[in-house]
Amino acid sequence: MPDAHTSDILIIGSGAAGLTAALNLADHFKVTVLAKGRLDEGSTAWAQGGIAAVLEPGDTFESHINDTMIAGAGLNDLATVEFVVENAPKAIARLTELGVPFNMEGNAPHLTREGGHSHRRIVHVDDATGHAVQVALQTAAEAHPNIRLIPDMVCVDLATSKHEERYSGAGHVWGVYAVNRATGRVELFTARATILATGGAGRTYLFSTAPRGATGDGIAMAWRAGARVSNMEMMQFHPTCLYNLDVKNFLITEAVRGEGGHLLLPDSGYRFMPDFDPRAELAPRDIVARAIDHEIKRLGLDYVHLDISHRGADFINEHFPNIKEKLLGLGIDMTKEPIPVVPAQHYTCGGIVIDIDGRTDLPALYAAGECSESGLHGANRLASNSLLECFVFGEACARHITDHWEDLPPPPRIRPWDESRVTDSDEEVVIKQNWTEIRRFMWNYVGIVRTTKRLERAQHRIRMLTDEINDYYGHFRVTPDLIELRNLLQTAELIVRSALHRKESRGLHYTLDYPEMLPEAIDTVLVP
Ligand code: FAD
Ligand code: SIN
Repeated sequence: MPDAHTSDILIIGSGAAGLTAALNLADHFKVTVLAKGRLDEGSTAWAQGGIAAVLEPGDTFESHINDTMIAGAGLNDLATVEFVVENAPKAIARLTELGVPFNMEGNAPHLTREGGHSHRRIVHVDDATGHAVQVALQTAAEAHPNIRLIPDMVCVDLATSKHEERYSGAGHVWGVYAVNRATGRVELFTARATILATGGAGRTYLFSTAPRGATGDGIAMAWRAGARVSNMEMMQFHPTCLYNLDVKNFLITEAVRGEGGHLLLPDSGYRFMPDFDPRAELAPRDIVARAIDHEIKRLGLDYVHLDISHRGADFINEHFPNIKEKLLGLGIDMTKEPIPVVPAQHYTCGGIVIDIDGRTDLPALYAAGECSESGLHGANRLASNSLLECFVFGEACARHITDHWEDLPPPPRIRPWDESRVTDSDEEVVIKQNWTEIRRFMWNYVGIVRTTKRLERAQHRIRMLTDEINDYYGHFRVTPDLIELRNLLQTAELIVRSALHRKESRGLHYTLDYPEMLPEAIDTVLVP
């Protein structure tokens, strides 16, 4: 095994959170950023709608804070919400400096609208904001002499005090063990501080808008190392994912509804959302997704329709050029006809518990972005608040590390990865079978509408699979697929355990056995 790669700071993840942290640290420190595939393969590059910020005359921080708390059904942490909302305009200014070509209206960014927002508040680059953000951040990181970007390095587990050559139980995090895809070997990366920016866990579900790599790796690694996780039952389902038997995870941005799109029953063309909520299509996501799910189940439909053709071809070409092109390629002309849509998993609201500085429970371990639970989203994330969280907390981690650098000791000698007792697997089929099984029962039993009985069924299956996968993990050489499967199962376990723990319906957690919301909003915090 090669010697450990050592840098000042190690960042796991090259999306909005990881690269923001890297750019805020690199003028003073040597930073290494790892990604498990290509650098642009996380959710960031897939973001469509935009970034929420108070920029419209007449809009106020109080209003953005209030909208965030309402969407989050009061489970949000008010101090965190204030912190993020008040830092949003600054984050947009920095992205503009980095060259993100936001759509403009005169001298100010053009603002679009999304569900749950009481003002036009969404800064965007057409309907492909995430791609533009990823390009700008990555270009700046690639140009910085102090940032080393390493793709194709799949982290397995955090290196902690128990991996020190002189064992200590202090729980300090010193870096990570990662499989190099090129060699298949496990390498050790050490640093004085480690930031997890590994994104969400959407692929725990059969249908998700998230990319293939959203397998909850950071959440599972932090949990195994001893950090608390919180509110994992709050899985967000986006109301409008394209229904297409070949293309299973193409999102139709919420901005389509923000700009006047209607949800209709396919046969009658009946607009059903006003029956469910006075805000109709612009109610928060949990409400719209549940309404669609209700209509689909009630009428035995495969999908409902999203129609914006009444806004005319010029408007649609200008606002949604990428979605229009993609749909045209699939034989749907959204300027003339409705789009078939279904809800799909979209965002992981829960995650690793962090404080306002991005610190986790473990010394020298920070987290930012979708893998973390900062208190911003509560029981349901307000649209376009999540890229924003990445920028604000990526910077917060960097600031805390910089201010406390002298308190962060250099890493001691860490034991190399032990592969002496494992062999190559001759049963790869086990991984594929279990991967599909987890995603299927999570979709069927732990979806938009839950019951205790279905959650217990899921829990029973997780217990059986845990023995099988642990046994497999103990005997065979780790591969990227095995690492992801193990994390997927761990994340599923945390989601189900959290869902069983919450004896009420709040935000994204809706159970027929406890349909009422309790008077007090309490986080579900799991302690390893
Ligand atoms: P990501 O961008 O997902 O990056 C994760 C990184 O971690 C990747 O580099 C990955 O390689 C790395 N990683 C993961 N596991 C490992 C491992 N084991 N080893 C090494 N590296 C690892 N939010 C908004 O605010 N506005 C929007 O308009 C919007 N639209 C969206 C549209 C879609 C289709 C989707 C899926 C999400 C959207 N979101 C939107 C949500 C938002 O894009 C994400 O929450 C955000 O980009 C997450 O950024 P991140 O930096 O936390 O993680
Ligand atoms: C969208 O464009 O609908 C996604 C916005 C978000 O997830 O915040």
